Amino acid sequence: MDDILTGLIDIEYGSASSETLTRQLYNQLRASILNGALPPGHRIPSSRECARQLGIARNTVSAVIDQLAMEGYLDVAQGRRPTVAAAEDKLLLAGRSIARKKPRPLPVSHWAECVRKSDWPFLNSGPPRPLATVLADGRLFPHDIWARCLRRAARRAPTSDPAINRASLRAALLRHLIEHRGVRAEERQIILMPSAQAALELIARVLLDAGDLAWVESPGYGGARAALDAAGAAVRGIPLDRNGIAFSGRHDRPRLIFVTPSHQHPTGRLMPVSRRQQLLGFANEVGAAIVEDDYDSEFHYDGRPVAALQGLDESGRVFYVGTFSKSMFSEVRSGYAIVPPDLADLFEKAQRHGSHIVPAAVQDALAEFIDDGHFAAHIRKMTRVYRSRRDHLLQALHAHAGDHLTIEPPAGGMQLLAHLAPHWDDRDVVARLAQAGITARALSQHFTGPITGAGLFLGFAAWNETEIDKAAAVIGDVLGRMQASRRRRPAAPASGNRRPRQSPAGPKA
Ligand SMILES: Cc1ncc(COP(=O)(O)O)c(C=O)c1O
Repeated sequence: MDDILTGLIDIEYGSASSETLTRQLYNQLRASILNGALPPGHRIPSSRECARQLGIARNTVSAVIDQLAMEGYLDVAQGRRPTVAAAEDKLLLAGRSIARKKPRPLPVSHWAECVRKSDWPFLNSGPPRPLATVLADGRLFPHDIWARCLRRAARRAPTSDPAINRASLRAALLRHLIEHRGVRAEERQIILMPSAQAALELIARVLLDAGDLAWVESPGYGGARAALDAAGAAVRGIPLDRNGIAFSGRHDRPRLIFVTPSHQHPTGRLMPVSRRQQLLGFANEVGAAIVEDDYDSEFHYDGRPVAALQGLDESGRVFYVGTFSKSMFSEVRSGYAIVPPDLADLFEKAQRHGSHIVPAAVQDALAEFIDDGHFAAHIRKMTRVYRSRRDHLLQALHAHAGDHLTIEPPAGGMQLLAHLAPHWDDRDVVARLAQAGITARALSQHFTGPITGAGLFLGFAAWNETEIDKAAAVIGDVLGRMQASRRRRPAAPASGNRRPRQSPAGPKA
């Protein structure tokens, strides 16, 4: 009797293995066939002999042989020992060559390569720390009220509903956006998505072909750049002036223009009505779509908020994008787009294709939360809180780091931009702040094309006054120490950002 199983099959008995005897024998016999240790035509011992050699029950061996025979690895015939199946068997050959060759990485799509290369999102490991940006203060959210809305909605939610955009939320949200943001739309134009980012992705997919030109603000929102890049667009950064995207005198003709007109991301600048009209006129002339990202404009502190660009649009080319992740809290995972009327049906179909659907219960809960006035009340409360935190951060930065920073006080939103003089390497500053327990984002990371500024993008919304004070003191300390060590070193060019920079003008902190 050939004892080929010795040395090939190594069974662990009892609690030594987490796998059953059957599973161990199956895996090891199959692997030996695939890697050629048991070659085609080879006869393995009978089930009785196998059981004897391995010291396991014959039933166990028979079950494994039957399974391998069913899968085509073994030929069995009455009264004969099982034989390893012929190599011509295609499935077996494929399995053998896969097992022998060093696996080659699977090619991925252009989209995935873009995702791989993208430096967005700027993720920090661990829980958020002061002064992380674009974060609402979930600690002040009325979770009990929200839980009641969710519970009621979950009880009533349909188990099957062809309407992926629920009428209840479309109606409630539209009323809110008409009153507070001056949008003009019908309910059917509202597409409810799991996030604003998902809405940007869908818009890019629907509107753009590979190579189409898309403009983004520079500096601007990395998520928009990433979504457009991944859609294959040729993304061009357009510099800003005091009024936002500065496109006058340009001769290129974009298919899509992405803007954050209410609080430019990251400068916080407001695009005045005159620039909005110019932008709409230009888009009309060249046939471009405008994507208006109104991500945090619920929160406005000085003067009256300017109504959405979408409300000024007469030609159906503005896509309005918003999110509940800033006005409520990020994990509510709900955003929306208002699309032009003639594309509403196509968008809903595209939405269904990607299954970008917010659960019906969440939609109904949001509708109730808005209809019963809780949403507006929360925004009123948080506007007061965030205004006072903005002022507090301005004062604290002025006190601790006023010599190094030139701040653009934002009229609204959840973060501010503090410019550094051009000789600073803002990524180095951000890295040192991270070591000291503070989260900031480098302005230089927000450019598409030439980097023309250095600075720190700092969130104030999610952090209370004590947290803000501590963070500002750390910022002052880190900048002070970096400045002192620069003075001690002989003059050398700034490291890090290789391209020349020039600081935009802004009021002193
Ligand atoms: C400017 C801007 N737009 C859109 C978003 C995305 O929001 P959401 O969390 O809904 O994807 C963010 C998120 O930080 C943002 O900063």
